Amino acid sequence: MAAFDIRSVTKWRFVPSGDGGTRRVLALSGVSLEVPERSIMAVVGPSGSGKSTLLRLLNRLEEPDEGTIGFAGVPLRELDVLELRRRVGLVQQQPAMFAGSVADNVAYGPALRGEWSATDLDRVGALLDTVGLPRDFAPREAQQLSGGERQRVAIARALANDPEALLLDEPTSALDPGAARHVLEAIRRVSEVAGVTAVVVSHTLAHARAVAQWAAILVGGQLVEHGPADQSLAAPQSPQARAFIEQAAEAGAEAEHDG
Ligand SMILES: Nc1ncnc2c1ncn2[C@@H]1O[C@H](COP(=O)(O)OP(=O)(O)OP(=O)(O)O)[C@@H](O)[C@H]1O
Ligand SMILES: [Mg+2]
Repeated sequence: MAAFDIRSVTKWRFVPSGDGGTRRVLALSGVSLEVPERSIMAVVGPSGSGKSTLLRLLNRLEEPDEGTIGFAGVPLRELDVLELRRRVGLVQQQPAMFAGSVADNVAYGPALRGEWSATDLDRVGALLDTVGLPRDFAPREAQQLSGGERQRVAIARALANDPEALLLDEPTSALDPGAARHVLEAIRRVSEVAGVTAVVVSHTLAHARAVAQWAAILVGGQLVEHGPADQSLAAPQSPQARAFIEQAAEAGAEAEHDG
């Protein structure tokens, strides 16, 4: 079964038009896409192509204007929104750490529901293992962590809710190659060990290739390619997807040269 079944989804945005009014911009246009259960799907595309919008729709931070989205066979709008967000975790690009320790952050959801708390060091430790952080991070002040460490605490915090799916918005964009590798490794482990479905937005084609079995390419709000990641990201069929991949590959080669 598909974890997510996205059918003909359209989302408009209203932006200032410059003359004091507003105009409509299509953020997503008739997007249909199935995300297979227990798989990792990368979503790539130029800036402004609708990637974050798509993630936000999957978690009902926003609603589609047209079309429907199903999760595990049930229309999203029929699910209680808090229950949905426990089952589908969102890890934002620069995740905020709550005041307190790493353990407080990891145990946040379960503690809120009265299930278990930050003093349960076995559970906290197991989640830190999963994301590749040393267990002695548990008492550290979360807001003092580095970007890569925060990303991993945010993934552990989402996993503490025992989700069926994780949505990750640019989880590696602000990280150096070493930290990015750790985060990608954590995502892969979560998918393999916990069977979690992951949808990962990434700017970096190499990261998308490294982590995903499936890929979707958005250009200008339209899904211009989707399929197995090795094919879709290496040899896409549509001209728009090919143009994007060529540009991204050139930019990647330059970044490697500069670094
Ligand atoms: N809250 C908002 N209000 C109005 N327009 C928005 C809003 N959020 C996004 N947009 C617009 O919707 C379009 C899609 O934005 P989105 O954030 O989904 O792109 P993206 O692919 O995630 O880009 P990036 O790679 O830069 O993060 C863009 O034209 C953007 O300017
Ligand atoms: Mg975005």
